[in-house]
Amino acid sequence: MVYEATATAPVNIAVIKYWGKRDTKLILPTNSSLSVTLDQDHLRSTTTSRADAAFDAGDRLWLNGKEEAVKEGGRLWTCIKELRGWRAAEEAKDAAKPKISTFPLRIASYNNFPTAAGLASSASGLAALVASLAALYELPQSPSDLSRIARQGSGSACRSLFGGYVAWQEGVEADGSDSLAVEVAPREHWPDLHALICVVSDAKKGTSSTAGMQQTVQTSPLLQARLKVVPGRMAAISEAIKAKDFDAFAKITIADSNQFHAVCLDTQPPIFYLNDVSRGVIALVEELNRAHVEKTGHLLAAYTFDAGPNAVIYAPEANIPTVVAAVNKYFPQAEAFPDPFKVGTAAALPQGFNEAVVPAGGWPKGAVKQLIHTKVGDGPRRLGAEESLLGPDGIPK
Ligand code: DP6
Repeated sequence: MVYEATATAPVNIAVIKYWGKRDTKLILPTNSSLSVTLDQDHLRSTTTSRADAAFDAGDRLWLNGKEEAVKEGGRLWTCIKELRGWRAAEEAKDAAKPKISTFPLRIASYNNFPTAAGLASSASGLAALVASLAALYELPQSPSDLSRIARQGSGSACRSLFGGYVAWQEGVEADGSDSLAVEVAPREHWPDLHALICVVSDAKKGTSSTAGMQQTVQTSPLLQARLKVVPGRMAAISEAIKAKDFDAFAKITIADSNQFHAVCLDTQPPIFYLNDVSRGVIALVEELNRAHVEKTGHLLAAYTFDAGPNAVIYAPEANIPTVVAAVNKYFPQAEAFPDPFKVGTAAALPQGFNEAVVPAGGWPKGAVKQLIHTKVGDGPRRLGAEESLLGPDGIPK
């Protein structure tokens, strides 16, 4: 009997940013956050977990083929320990259940996007780990319960336990029991939202989010002002999602990204995640919006940036050809654009678009390395045994 499960989990990109912990061990945030889950057809982490009494003692884990130590007390260790504990509780209730909680584990995880692209891989990776172990252990817990475990692997990972539009409620309890992810709306509610990721070249390695956010908590007076603003934004953007009101959604998304980066600049020493190319994309989208509002009264697109220079542009599907044409024109990519939606680059820019926002001579080729076009997607998926990442010996294939 093989006890094994393979699952995939999605990337999520926040529109209300999580930045700051009130408890660094339990990973409890200083504010609630909200994200859009992206489609696993394009970006995903896949994880296989296997339990076998015949394995040598001790759990082993591989990430993209490279073995990672499961350090006692570390984040991975904590997630595994908690889920194993839940399995043990089920076994104690039902003597017929095999005692697989006592078996050593072999876990292999794989991201289908290059880590070098600078996309947050910890969220999808930790969520896939939790989803595969929950499937292996046949746990009865809900996705929100599982999100409390994923949260302890990486805060933003808790939001990847759901598809669609997801809130991480900060909670008030000291033990973190109410700091969990909930679905604001499934993707079917508002499937029209597309995302265009502009992968921006960046040679230097920036400050990690884990370290950066604690520097902010310790030194930024502006963070205190932000913490007063976020609850109103959480309520307003949830309403916008429920009403499928892109204008309100975009306005809040843009404001929150800019406030997050303002708080980074207010940190001592200041943290710079945006670079000139990022700011160039901001100027481009702002001008597209100005021209589009003038013509139609509506915003065209929203930009948001995490702890790095890549832009994520959200827009209704109908607006994507214009965004793609504009980005392609002013930020010619070094690599061809393999668009699964095949929108092309021929769309006209809005009437009255002011080219003066683009530096004279334009951006050099490859300033935006690559575009990734995706859309709002579903939550973790269970895969069949044929998708296993582990060979018969429990080592990655
Ligand atoms: C800017 O979840 O990577 O992407 O909890 O320390 O693992 P840890 O941090 P992490 O931080 C993500 C920060 C962000 C904003 C967001 O995703 O909400």
